[in-house]
Amino acid sequence: MSVLIKNGRIITATDDYSADILIDGETVSAIGKNLPMKADRTIDAKGKLVIPGGIDPHVHMELPFGGTVSSDDFKTGTIAAAFGGTTTIIDFAIQSKGMTMTQAHEAWIAKSEGKCAIDYGWHMAITKFENADRAEMKKLYDAGVTTFKIFLAYPNVLMIDQPTVYRVMKNAGELGGLTLVHAENGEAIEERIRILVSEGKNEPKYHAVSRPPIMQADGVARAVKVAEFAKAPVFIVHVSCESAMMEIVRSRDDGNPAYGETCTQYLFLDESYYDKPNFEGAKYVFTPPLVPKENIEPLWKGLKLGYLQEVSTDHCPFFFKGQKELGKETFTKIPNGGPGVEDRLSMTFHGAMQRSFSLNKFIDITSTASAKMFGMFPRKGTIAVGSDADIVIFDPEKERTISAKTHHMNCDYSLFEGWKIKGEPQTVLSRGKVIIEDGQYKGRPGEGKFIKRGECATA
Ligand code: URP
Ligand code: ZN
Ligand code: ZN
Repeated sequence: MSVLIKNGRIITATDDYSADILIDGETVSAIGKNLPMKADRTIDAKGKLVIPGGIDPHVHMELPFGGTVSSDDFKTGTIAAAFGGTTTIIDFAIQSKGMTMTQAHEAWIAKSEGKCAIDYGWHMAITKFENADRAEMKKLYDAGVTTFKIFLAYPNVLMIDQPTVYRVMKNAGELGGLTLVHAENGEAIEERIRILVSEGKNEPKYHAVSRPPIMQADGVARAVKVAEFAKAPVFIVHVSCESAMMEIVRSRDDGNPAYGETCTQYLFLDESYYDKPNFEGAKYVFTPPLVPKENIEPLWKGLKLGYLQEVSTDHCPFFFKGQKELGKETFTKIPNGGPGVEDRLSMTFHGAMQRSFSLNKFIDITSTASAKMFGMFPRKGTIAVGSDADIVIFDPEKERTISAKTHHMNCDYSLFEGWKIKGEPQTVLSRGKVIIEDGQYKGRPGEGKFIKRGECATA
């Protein structure tokens, strides 16, 4: 099957020009003005932006967490992602207690099998690691799982101790891999939670009180310093506040390969959302929590200046009814996470245009930087001859209102309910096949492929 996309304005992280794109099978085979070739199908992209498919490198489909399971599985979650213009996700295979990394990897393969509508990869989330586990880490690396995640939060569940942090960073770094860190001071936070609960402070807003920015900044400061000590690259996930971001910047200014991301929700929402009545604050209980409003513009500035590399979602949805409600008695029982994979590209476009980002920068933070950072470039993250034809035809003028009534995520609420935004993915191609068109999903679950990732561009 061949597809010719005509008359579009092609935007990559570096270029902005008008041309036609010929797709032959799964990859781009020619780009040029007025291409004379015929194709099985021609799409007119006049007046639209033609952009690389979005990459969301931080999602949790079907994650057992907080006594329940996140509500999007690999089918519903990846279809929702496709509607939102995201054509590649990276999920986290989590090594539960008593499991080897290989068993965790196999468990995630099994639950995604035959379900994915778009391409996908795994980060390996490690909860136990001895130096003897290096061979297993190398096997995963060779299989295309080149990024390893550790938690400095969630004591007794996912948190690891400092010797393990050092071992993971050192071994991953020596193998050419990258360590991702959920960076908070989990132990001090746990003590604050205990005190709050003992004082009868159980409402959702105390989730934010229990883990304020200073504890995130502390976690990041420690993570980047241990990474420096281990001479290893490090990537801090879901940075939500300026002080944490500046710890990354300080380390990089000192010459260390320290990087980070933020998520859509932190770019728009602030801690006042926890004050919503009728337990609705629980919808915004994710970790790290929303923070004071004055952090929002610094995060945007950080993206513009390259302090942070990309925008992910940490998509980990739970229904308000029946799941978030598990924490009606106390915030400690509210499953942590929120929906977002479908809204990332459009919300980021909306916010970036309001702040005069270049279109190139918008592409960089939603696709290209992740492809490079996580070892998929130039197969993913750009539009070039030979790259996968993951392409979004994006209408930059389309005005719409975000709502759970119209989204495709398997969740009964939206973090951005009622937000009026400009910009919508209109047609989405995954490796040359049109999977979203005219507001319909045209693909088949299971067509998404595992992407064997390579070395991460952290130099
Ligand atoms: O609240 C969140 N972020 N849930 C998912 C797990 C994590 O910490 O990334
Ligand atoms: Zn996390
Ligand atoms: Zn996460």
